[in-house]
Amino acid sequence: MHKCEPLYIERFSVFQRLTHLLVIVSFLTLAVTGMALKFAMEDWAQWIAFMTGGFTVLGALHRFFAIVTFFYFFLTMILLYTKWKESGKSLLGFIFDAEGLVPNLNDLKEMIATFKWFFGGPRPYYGHWTYWEKFDFMAVFWGIAVIGSSGLALWFPEIFSKFLPGWGLNIATIIHSDEALLASGFIFTIHFYNTHLRPDKFPLDPVIFVGSITVDELKHERPREYDQLMASGDLDKLTQCRAPEAWLKRLSTVFGIFVVVTGSMLVVSIIISMVKHIHF
Ligand code: HEM
Repeated sequence: MHKCEPLYIERFSVFQRLTHLLVIVSFLTLAVTGMALKFAMEDWAQWIAFMTGGFTVLGALHRFFAIVTFFYFFLTMILLYTKWKESGKSLLGFIFDAEGLVPNLNDLKEMIATFKWFFGGPRPYYGHWTYWEKFDFMAVFWGIAVIGSSGLALWFPEIFSKFLPGWGLNIATIIHSDEALLASGFIFTIHFYNTHLRPDKFPLDPVIFVGSITVDELKHERPREYDQLMASGDLDKLTQCRAPEAWLKRLSTVFGIFVVVTGSMLVVSIIISMVKHIHF
């Protein structure tokens, strides 16, 4: 007998949602300001500089949101540490948990099953995290290590040149600039498509802002997690009748669409600028 219809289950805690909000705001601003600096000769970059108060302001904004990035990286570490302590597992047991965020052999199987699904096979038996969600999570770790460390070298060249040769700073610029291009290209196309633009979700999946999904969605999208919760008897304890607040859903939709549109426009501008300079 159901308590009510539809039933909701939490997917992201308030802490996780706020951390992701910091990721969105900082990454989008870093990408817009960084790309305007990289493509400074293009009309669109000069328009961004004009609207924000000039290229010096873009550099200052870029540095401010770099600090926000290091801050959310630190918050994520606290979150992971808390989850590890709550789990009661050993460190390696927690990191390589079958349902954790580190990819394993089952993800490879699900990836192959997903490609078969595209050609008419059955929908794969996904669990709490799909292989592309795990990839996104790991990519942020990698991205912050590479973009963050090279960015610090650009920010504090005097300190870095104490142990790096001069050409090391030129390499840091190339690494920073090209890894940033790769990260922006990936987030504003593949990540946006996987989370919001695919037919199941279009135009936006608000779950990262509102936090919960319906049990029917869970059953359809993550059948392995649903079956595990049914088998352990936890599903009943974790579900609730309270729907996400209507104002939060509306605000999330407007904000989310603004971010998706801004990121997409940035990618299109970058592609046009790069193609324009190819000499055939
Ligand atoms: C997270 C820590 C980061 C730090 C410490 C950092 C730092 C810097 C600094 C100091 C500069 C030189 C800015 C200037 O000339 O005024 C720069 C340039 C740039 N940044 Fe970042 N940044 C970070 C993250 C990012 C991210 C996430 C992106 C984009 C996704 C990005 C994209 C760029 C680009 C495209 C440039 C211009 C590079 C060029 O001139 O070719 N940065 N960054």
